[in-house]
Order: sequence, then C-alpha cells, then structure tokens
Amino acid sequence: MSGFIEGLPKVELHLHIEGTLEPELVFALARRNDVKLAYADQAALKAAYQFSDLQSFLDIYYQGSRVLLNEQDFFDMTWAYLTRAHAEQVRHTEIFFDPQAHTARGVPFAVVISGIHRALEQARQEWGMTSRLIMSFLRHLSEQDAFDTLKDAMPFKDKITGVGLDSSEQGNPPAKFGRVYAACQELGFRLVAHAGEEGPPENIRDALDVLSVERIDHGVAAIRDPELMARLAAEHVPLTQCPLSNLRLRVVDKMSDHPLLRLLQAGVKVTINSDDPAYFGGYMNANYQAVQQGLGASDQQLLVITLNAVNACWLSPEEKARLS
Ligand code: HPA
Ligand code: ZN
Repeated sequence: MSGFIEGLPKVELHLHIEGTLEPELVFALARRNDVKLAYADQAALKAAYQFSDLQSFLDIYYQGSRVLLNEQDFFDMTWAYLTRAHAEQVRHTEIFFDPQAHTARGVPFAVVISGIHRALEQARQEWGMTSRLIMSFLRHLSEQDAFDTLKDAMPFKDKITGVGLDSSEQGNPPAKFGRVYAACQELGFRLVAHAGEEGPPENIRDALDVLSVERIDHGVAAIRDPELMARLAAEHVPLTQCPLSNLRLRVVDKMSDHPLLRLLQAGVKVTINSDDPAYFGGYMNANYQAVQQGLGASDQQLLVITLNAVNACWLSPEEKARLS
C-alpha cells in the first residue's frame, strides 16, 4: 500500500452501513441474538461472496442484515466501520442506511437510527470525525412502502441529512420514485440516487431530471454516452464511484476497464468510495489502491479526486476548512 494513499486525509460519500458487517460480526451477532444462519461458519459465509451481478450480492447482503435486532447491534456495526475508516484517515463520511431492510423484519426505525447515531456521535467526540446520514429507499419495494418509511423517519428528521435510492436497479427506474423524491425535497432533504450501476445512461438522466438529485451514486454507465458525460462535467455533478464493488459485481470485467479515470479526464467530478467494503474486498485505501494500480492513477489525480469529495460533501464551508 502506498504511503501517499495511507496518509491522505479522505472523505467517503458512498457507504452502506449494512455492507460493513464483516463475517466475524455477522456470526457474533447471530450468536448474541440467537439468529439461525444459512452458513455453518465464517469461512462458508465468505466462500459465498462470489457474485455474478448486483442481485446475487443483494440476496446475501439482506441475509446478513437479519442478525441486526437491537440498538447495540446497530451501534457495534457502525462503530466497527468508523474505527476502520478512522484508521484509514477518513475524516468525514456520508453513510447510507436501509431502514426497510429492518422495519420489514419488525425492528423499529428508532432502534436502527439510535444505534447508528450513537456511534457517529462517539466518533465525533473522540476523533473529531464528522458524518451525515442518508436514508436510502429500497427501489425493489413500492412507492407506498417508501412513503411509509418517510413517515417513520419524521421523528428523527434532524438526524437525517439526505435520502438515496438503492437495491435492484434493473426494472426499478428512477421515475418510480418521482413523487417520493418531490416530497423529500419539499421536506428539505438533500437528494442522491444510485443510477447507471447496472442500469442504462437513461437512469442517470432521469435521476437528474425526474428526481432532482445533486449527486449520482456509481454513474458507471455515463461512459457509454458522450453527451451525458459532457452534461455531468458542465453541471459539476459529482459521481460517487466504487471501483472494487463494480469489479466484484461484474459491472466491469477487469479493473483496467473501469471508466473512473476516463470520466475524470472528461472533466467529471468523480470520487472514490467503498460501497459495501465487508463484501467487496476492501475499505477506502483498497479502493484508492485499485485506482492507482488497476488504472495507473497518479498521486496528483488521487488528490484531485479526493478534493472532489471534499467539494461534494455536505459539510459547511467552515467544517470543510477543518478537514485537512
Ligand atoms: N447497489 C445497489 N444497492 C445496494 C448496493 C449497491 O452497490 N449496496 C447496498 N445496496
Ligand atoms: Zn451503493
């Protein structure tokens, strides 16, 4: 691992907290909560992390989430992530959580957000590490389910900065959530959405035009559409890209095919993030390293990409000035 990458202060903008559950913690929580797992041990679980596409990953990711039942579980998961991120010089992190993956199992919204928030607060107090929370709607579920979740979130509105859209992109285009996003905008939430991960460039356009998002999560498909690339560059739309995720979910066949540097060279504000690091083989440093080794990025380019994340994050100008 290069000393430059290790020492670089970083900002993470695309991280699913449920995707940070390491096999060890999955089994520890399963024991603590008496949850039966479909895998005999950690090695068997890890062996199942051979993904053919996004859906094959999501099936295992939602299985893993079943061990989360109590406030302390959500705290422990979040604290484990923050500890790793802190060790990798992540100074600020904007974290997705999937409330529907838990409320559908009878875990109250309050339990989920309280455990996550308590860990974020502790990281702020102990290390000065800042964070924001992004409530993500599961796009394979209905519009009504998203509206119900938005209602559940209302008592905790002060703890949630933005909303996002994740899960199965195929068959669930942005327009399905046009009214939900309009309501969220009205309520003052910042807006982002996963688009162009497995879906077409059209989904990126619709996320911008129909959902009014300010950042695109992934946006890999933009490389296939020069006009869209020019628009993303001209409008300074940040892309929160996740190289190891895209490799593991076969969005790209090999790292050298990843469009991140080509997008950067076209003037697009790309950033590097870890997505679901427990499942995809690495946290922030490993993703930076993949861009350095797989794409040949220079230290100067990695610095520009990091400054893109500083610019794209939701801290105030005063808080941003304190990041370095
Ligand atoms: N894509 C879509 N949905 C997700 C992901 C992802 O990479 N991770 C967790 N939910
Ligand atoms: Zn994601």
